[in-house]
Amino acid sequence: MKVLVTGGTGYIGSHTCVELIEAGHQPVVLDNLCNSNPESLRRVAQITGREVPFIEGDVCDEALLERVFAQNPDIACVIHFAGLKAVGESVAKPLEYYYNNLLSTMTLCRVMGRHGVKKIIFSSSATVYSGDNEMPLREDSKTGNCTNPYGWTKYMCEQILRDVAKADSEWSVVLLRYFNPVGAHQSGLIGEHPNGIPNNLMPFISQTAIGKREKLSIFGNDYDTPDGTGVRDYIHVVDLARGHVAAANYMMEHKGEAVFNLGTGRGYSVLDMVKAFEQANGVAIPYAIAPRRSGDLATCYADPTRSREVLGWEAQYDQVDMCRDTWNWQSKNPNGYDE
Ligand code: NAD
Ligand code: UFG
Repeated sequence: MKVLVTGGTGYIGSHTCVELIEAGHQPVVLDNLCNSNPESLRRVAQITGREVPFIEGDVCDEALLERVFAQNPDIACVIHFAGLKAVGESVAKPLEYYYNNLLSTMTLCRVMGRHGVKKIIFSSSATVYSGDNEMPLREDSKTGNCTNPYGWTKYMCEQILRDVAKADSEWSVVLLRYFNPVGAHQSGLIGEHPNGIPNNLMPFISQTAIGKREKLSIFGNDYDTPDGTGVRDYIHVVDLARGHVAAANYMMEHKGEAVFNLGTGRGYSVLDMVKAFEQANGVAIPYAIAPRRSGDLATCYADPTRSREVLGWEAQYDQVDMCRDTWNWQSKNPNGYDE
């Protein structure tokens, strides 16, 4: 089937294009390139042997979306990755985040509805869960109390999409709550390349390994965790991408709204990840303990039972795969797609 992939030149979107093609589907990408490079789709073509049609443009542009759906009447569903995602930046520029992430989602749904395409998968995040839940997090754990505007945009988009599904029983809405996506395609051709200084742990580790950063700062070693450093549910991006293929198949058979965690169900500490990266790749990661980062939780990991039982999806890759594939991509593409 033909799948419109918004944000498809980005990190998770490009990996999902590969998995869609390998499952026999035809992705069409719409992206404004505000945080990505179209080279990613040339690499997707190299991996799969298939060109991915690409439309450069903004999901907030209603007239453009009208043209996209008019010219592609066979679009069966949409995977909506497009969004701004930097937590710290969202605190400094809240209006940009609310404007982009909410308006893109609402505009997309309006145009989809007009064209009778009423199936959407939305990129949500574990950040929508309230910080006072017991671990592991289940889909019915408490949400809200977000600590930053980025998290609120995900929370609000979930609510908007839920209301859309409630108002019109023809809609099928799947909300996927990602835990911590890491790693890269095994080919080393596509991966994550954050602009500037990475906010997230794995890109910081790999940039330290390659010598771009002097050392990793570990944000706090006095949490109530086995070694005192923060514990997260890291998930290989290829597993995450396959979760979208499973969700697209599910959506073809089910109407209404559904929410799924995409995580492994296992938590690893920052120090676990540093050691695993060193061992998997034979490189040293110098680090120093720094103060806690504001807004961070001690521990966050998923209960992925529902995804396994309902979607038939389960993460296959382990910590060693995540570390090896991150390094394979980073060492082959030290400047991302900018070579
Ligand atoms: P990414 O920045 O690599 O990809 C997002 C893509 O959306 C980029 O290519 C960007 O150019 C595009 N985009 C943004 N606003 C747009 C707009 N208005 N119109 C058209 N294109 C637009 O990020 P990613 O890591 O691949 O994340 C994909 C989605 O998953 C995002 O919605 C993100 O919030 C969500 N998510 C990511 C993580 C993570 O840790 N990476 C965790 C949870 C949820
Ligand atoms: N960390 C460090 N040093 C760093 C970066 C991170 O010690 O340089 C630690 C953090 O304190 C945390 C862990 O590594 O304990 C993971 O941090 P990340 O920034 O990689 O990930 P988060 O869990 O904070 O956040 C990520 C995404 C968010 C998303 C959230 C839940 O960045 O967008 O997962 O899905 F909302």
